[in-house]
Amino acid sequence: MNAENIVIATAKERNLQIRYVRAPDGWVGPENFELTHGDVPVPGDGEVLVRNHYLSLDPYQRRQMIPGVEYVRPLRLGAIMEGRTVGEVLQSQHRDFRTGDFVYGDFGWQQFGVLRGEEIRKIDTTLAPPSAWLGVLGSPGITAWVGLLHVAKARAGETVIVSAAAGAVGSVVGQIARLSGCRVVGIAGGPQKCRLVVEELGFHACVDYRVADFEAMLAQATPDGADVDFENVGGTVFDTVLTRMNDFGRIALCGLVSQYNLREPQGLRNVATLLNRNLMLQGFRVGHYKEQREPALHQLADWVRQGKLRFRETVAQGLEKAPQAFVDMLAGHNVGKQVVKLV
Ligand SMILES: NC(=O)c1ccc[n+]([C@@H]2O[C@H](COP(=O)([O-])OP(=O)(O)OC[C@H]3O[C@@H](n4cnc5c(N)ncnc54)[C@H](OP(=O)(O)O)[C@@H]3O)[C@@H](O)[C@H]2O)c1
Repeated sequence: MNAENIVIATAKERNLQIRYVRAPDGWVGPENFELTHGDVPVPGDGEVLVRNHYLSLDPYQRRQMIPGVEYVRPLRLGAIMEGRTVGEVLQSQHRDFRTGDFVYGDFGWQQFGVLRGEEIRKIDTTLAPPSAWLGVLGSPGITAWVGLLHVAKARAGETVIVSAAAGAVGSVVGQIARLSGCRVVGIAGGPQKCRLVVEELGFHACVDYRVADFEAMLAQATPDGADVDFENVGGTVFDTVLTRMNDFGRIALCGLVSQYNLREPQGLRNVATLLNRNLMLQGFRVGHYKEQREPALHQLADWVRQGKLRFRETVAQGLEKAPQAFVDMLAGHNVGKQVVKLV
């Protein structure tokens, strides 16, 4: 089948799409989205038509719904939901891409999409399955590497705490910390996640933040305190972690997922600890560390190839499941990277 035939075939198909139609007030829900049908787009000069195979669901997409949000692009009501995907090239009008190539791009919550060749990247599906390029070999993996090694500068022999430890970013952070010779303590929701983090991902300990004596349990898991906090959660979890930080500890503030669905953000009670213990707190946005992308990817790919870095995924089946899967991911129903399988 040549490329022309493929496009004729797809032109008969409808393009299932999910639009963002209502701004949430508090928790986001499926009612904030609408399923619509569009045409399969036709690529123009320099463009590539892709059939999306996997869609990535990420906490920043909830931030995009916050009025007046900084740093992420706000979502437009009525527009197709923005989102990263991996998929297969059906037709290319760009010299660097061929039919059958697998690529990564911001194609959004839809089955088919068109982008310019400069906006997408080829992925190597012989190294890892396509969905891994949205997780361990995608933005979450690179975020973990940059935040832990470049921002917090974790060193062998140090104790590292990581919150949302069973999630896409946290699960990679903990494994990189272990591979770097650190003692790593995860924080996650529920005993099952904690067990997985220790037994499957090799963390030295994991504490369930939902138990009443969380503070005491975290103290027990960090008898020598913590030198690094990789902060994914914020709120009361972060407040508790602050009490465990050692003098001159470093905090890489990656995310505040506990806050994204709140009408009003919570404050920090233990902020004085930053002063009292000479702590360094640095927020970071992975998009600003473009020069770290290639070294990070190189190392992550090596570890995956050698079987040193494990990755887990939670897979929802079908685009129509994306809204509920998005809500569920924010509520902690995912283990590892949350994706939606579209093909
Ligand atoms: N700075 C950057 O450039 C950058 C890049 C990527 C991601 N991030 C941030 O990194 C964090 C993790 O993202 P991810 O993609 O890896 O998502 P994820 O961890 O795979 O999924 C989100 C997780 O957050 C946890 N969570 C939700 N509400 C919580 C609460 N109230 N208290 C404690 N934990 C809660 C849940 O795990 P539990 O079951 O354990 O509660 C859930 O599984 C997010 O804050 C995200 O915004 C930042």
